[in-house]
Amino acid sequence: MSILVTGGVGYIGSHTVVELLNRDEDIIIVDNLVNSKPEAINRIKKITGKDFKFYEVDILDEKKLENVFKENNIESVIHFAGLKAVGESVEKPLEYYQNNVAGTLTLLKIMIKYNCKKIVFSSSATVYGDPGTPKYIEELGRGKTTNPYGTTKSMIEQILEDLYISDNSWNIAILRYFNPVGAHESGLIGEEPQGIPNNLMPFIMKVANKELDHLNVFGNDYEGTKDGTGARDYLHVVDLAIGHIKALEKLDKEKNGVFVYNLGTGTAYTVLEIVEAFKKVNNVDVPYKIAPRRNGDLAIYYADPTKAEKELGWVAKRGIEEMCRDSWNFVISNMRG
Ligand code: NAD
Ligand code: UD1
Repeated sequence: MSILVTGGVGYIGSHTVVELLNRDEDIIIVDNLVNSKPEAINRIKKITGKDFKFYEVDILDEKKLENVFKENNIESVIHFAGLKAVGESVEKPLEYYQNNVAGTLTLLKIMIKYNCKKIVFSSSATVYGDPGTPKYIEELGRGKTTNPYGTTKSMIEQILEDLYISDNSWNIAILRYFNPVGAHESGLIGEEPQGIPNNLMPFIMKVANKELDHLNVFGNDYEGTKDGTGARDYLHVVDLAIGHIKALEKLDKEKNGVFVYNLGTGTAYTVLEIVEAFKKVNNVDVPYKIAPRRNGDLAIYYADPTKAEKELGWVAKRGIEEMCRDSWNFVISNMRG
């Protein structure tokens, strides 16, 4: 019996595959490499010393995806494959709906055909919209999303819930990630954004590496944060990866249901706290300038991770120093060649 990991060559997928292989799970990756490089496959093998099957397949390609199910005995799916750039989703909404929503529908249809009804889905804290409180708890439910990317996540959550209503032999975990950062301690896998990054940590990495001149800190007059800069719940990608293992264990135990969990640390750090931690831990300079607020940004939000702790036995263990250290270690051991 195998676990199919869609998008398993990507940032969070590759770290999750490492954790699965470390636990001797039999895994298969499907990825079309639209936002990842094939080298990551060899690097996963190098870290774990284990082998696995990789299919370069687009999840929208029904025939090829079905073939993966035909050739293997797939028991469960961890579904990472999707496009994730918020700004790009505003420019190309149809691509995002097609890839993320239609891609998931294709996957679910084939899963039904092969009687595989266990899935872990990558959702995001963005589905809460702006609930008017900084601490996000699962019961708040989905709010009004602010961009097509967020809407695809919200729609897929709804689709999975409807699917369960139609057939309650499904076994579904929806994981709402907060802000994943960091990299594997080996420095072999991590996040390597193409072009100028939008997210904070990849931007800091490029500034520290002198590829970019300085960081623009988007606003220092937010209310409710320590120093007026935006605050977020950053979590180490290895902790996040382990969250998927725990979610699968929960599904194995429960047999059926739809389970929704926040995966975050429960603590928010400001932009300047992250910059200072990064400089201190890595002994590098990160010049910055205060810039206007970014459109659509909230002042502060963080997870209430109590439910994941109680029901999954999952707690994020790696702190801000490890997040900054491992992010930089990935740059010096990989991005610099
Ligand atoms: P990523 O881009 O590094 O990984 C996604 C992988 O999916 C890539 O390897 C890409 O090539 C692949 N992919 C995309 N479309 C595909 C398709 N149609 N067929 C096959 N493969 C396809 O992104 P990530 O950061 O690892 O994110 C993984 C998942 O988690 C995504 O669904 C993302 O939306 C979600 N998520 C990410 C974050 C974050 O901050 N990174 C936060 C919340 C949720
Ligand atoms: C963004 C997405 C969210 C997605 C997440 C992935 C939006 C509105 N939300 O969240 O859907 O799941 O990325 O991690 O885009 N910052 C700067 N300068 C920069 C970049 C960021 O000051 O160059 C600040 C931001 O204003 C924010 C914080 O850093 O306060 C984190 O930003 P970012 O990494 O982009 O994540 P989010 O905006 O939380």
